[in-house]
Amino acid sequence: MTGQPLVRNPVLGEQPVRNCAGGIGELSCCMPSAALLDGPSPPVRCGYLSTPISRACVPGSACTRSGCQPSPSSVTKSVSKALVTSVFANHPMRGLISRKGFVDGLLGTDIAMTSLWLADRVDRPLPPNPLDEADRSADVVVVGAGITGLITAVLLARASRDVMVLEALTAGAGTTGNTTAKISLLQGIKLSKIVGRHGVETAQQYVQGNLEGLEWLVQHCEAHGLSVQRQDAYTYAQSEKGLPATREELTAGKTAGLDVEWVDDADVPFPFHGGVRLARQAQFDPMPFLDSLIVELDERNGRLVQGVRVRRVSSEGDGLALHVGSSAGDEFDVHAKQCVLATGIPILDRGGFFARLKPNRSYCMAYQVPGNLTRGMYISADSPTRSVRYAPTAAGDRLIVGGAGHPVGREKHPASSVQELASWARVHYPGALQTHYWSAQDYTPADDLPYVGPILPGNDKIFVATGFDKWGMTNGTAAALALSSRILGGRMEWAEAFASWSPHELSGIPTVMQANLEVGFNLAKGWITPLTRIGDRTSVGGGVVSGPPWHLEARSLVSGVEHRVSPVCPHLGGIVNWNDADESWECPLHGSRFAPDGTLLEGPATRNLTAAQ
Ligand SMILES: Cc1cc2nc3c(=O)[nH]c(=O)nc-3n(C[C@H](O)[C@H](O)[C@H](O)COP(=O)(O)OP(=O)(O)OC[C@H]3O[C@@H](n4cnc5c(N)ncnc54)[C@H](O)[C@@H]3O)c2cc1C
Ligand code: FES
Repeated sequence: MTGQPLVRNPVLGEQPVRNCAGGIGELSCCMPSAALLDGPSPPVRCGYLSTPISRACVPGSACTRSGCQPSPSSVTKSVSKALVTSVFANHPMRGLISRKGFVDGLLGTDIAMTSLWLADRVDRPLPPNPLDEADRSADVVVVGAGITGLITAVLLARASRDVMVLEALTAGAGTTGNTTAKISLLQGIKLSKIVGRHGVETAQQYVQGNLEGLEWLVQHCEAHGLSVQRQDAYTYAQSEKGLPATREELTAGKTAGLDVEWVDDADVPFPFHGGVRLARQAQFDPMPFLDSLIVELDERNGRLVQGVRVRRVSSEGDGLALHVGSSAGDEFDVHAKQCVLATGIPILDRGGFFARLKPNRSYCMAYQVPGNLTRGMYISADSPTRSVRYAPTAAGDRLIVGGAGHPVGREKHPASSVQELASWARVHYPGALQTHYWSAQDYTPADDLPYVGPILPGNDKIFVATGFDKWGMTNGTAAALALSSRILGGRMEWAEAFASWSPHELSGIPTVMQANLEVGFNLAKGWITPLTRIGDRTSVGGGVVSGPPWHLEARSLVSGVEHRVSPVCPHLGGIVNWNDADESWECPLHGSRFAPDGTLLEGPATRNLTAAQ
């Protein structure tokens, strides 16, 4: 870097001036800040600033005054990609994978084994010492830098709170960077479930919170020059069988105050037997959005620390001590008055949220499609779930299809459902070329409503935000609005529908009991079944748990490398199962996931699988 002109990026620190890729709001573009247009001098920062942007750079040129640098979005993508690459190397479903994390697809193209949103981010190692000792405290520590955590942090920083975000991996590396990013109040058949279980008033509050989430997101994107597409959303029947549930959603939507209508036809190439339409919903790329939040957080003196995993939280005088492990292996405490767990599923067992949530994993693929691309956002009411949207990218529009969902760790061969989803896409979009493959999980609450609020009734120090049931763009934003206003002493009028503890949970008790029976069954099965597999060998690839209960071993063979780890989940002792689509270990109890070498990927666990004895 010596001798090169440098500019300071809030995420990257000092960076050399780079050439610009051009374009406003595009994935990899850089652009000068508004300040550059008026003033003669740096600082110049790349896109997605909190000030509106009025000019794009010329692609490939250096900025005339001083220059551009990689967007913060480029940073996050790299680490996730590295993680994904390690997990997907030599994947049996996809033939050979290069070390860059691409596989040869069925049609001979490279398939990026990462989400459309996380692809193409520049590699950057995390700093070995992410947090100096003097900096290890804040008024509010937010754990998790997904949509929920980062919006919460920005809202608190706007109110001049001293706020720090601690992120185990990198911002967006969880579900937010692997979502389909539809911003919609029509959410499959969610409203029929809520109306049926909780009645009209609660459903209206739920819609109100989601509406506020949608409006906040769209306004934020517009104010920051971020691309957001207003599109109609559809819940549709893909067969006659799906019609009753779809019609029920129409009624529920109307009851809850949505301007929904019935349509017999839609301009789509897949089976459509009628559906509900809600006009002018939205969709976007979540990563530039997260980047804009990171920039604003920095501008308002908030801090984001990546590569630090919170393992425990304990009381300390009037406040809290968060016990943290860094990716470099250091362990230390961070002190806070209050803390928000925006970690997907809460990492603390207090409150027993792990027993009130069902983790569900789904798979997504992006395609380059010849000819016209489907506009609008579609999700089927009937099984198997088909979720469809398009996404503008620098390389042209892409089709995204999602589905093949299953409870984490409980599907024998997820790869076959993924292949079935891919065939569906190829049949209905002839000539479609797959460009990306990814997967993610989200948490379904027992009573269909999110849990947002204190971890235990009356606790005003630790808060949770979870249970978005694959609708976290609006629900995560609503959660951030509700939590930040609560911490600042206010209250959202719709917050009752999102409460972490309230009478509405009583309606979820049968579901909780059923879910925990299933958990108990899977716990026993995990410990006993491997007995039958003594002597099994991992064949060409894949993983198997074998051995007697006192000597269980999880063995996998990936990229020709054999790994042997203990299959006992460090959360509450579940026995992990192999996911042949993702090549990872999954705990069937509460959804923790681990790489073949035992590295923790996500879930309520906070430690890796241990080495095999
Ligand atoms: C396949 C799929 C498609 C979806 N599509 C849509 C959609 O179209 N529209 C929609 O509205 N919703 C959708 N969702 C749901 C939505 O993506 C999620 O609800 C939302 O992204 C959750 O955001 P979050 O910030 O709460 O969690 P996350 O984005 O998962 O963020 C949690 C963060 O916490 C970090 N973390 C975890 N544990 C720790 C720890 N111990 N210490 C420090 N950090 C930690 C993680 O690394 C992660 O970055 C989809 C979900 C899935 C699975
Ligand atoms: S995730 Fe709870 S026991 Fe594994």
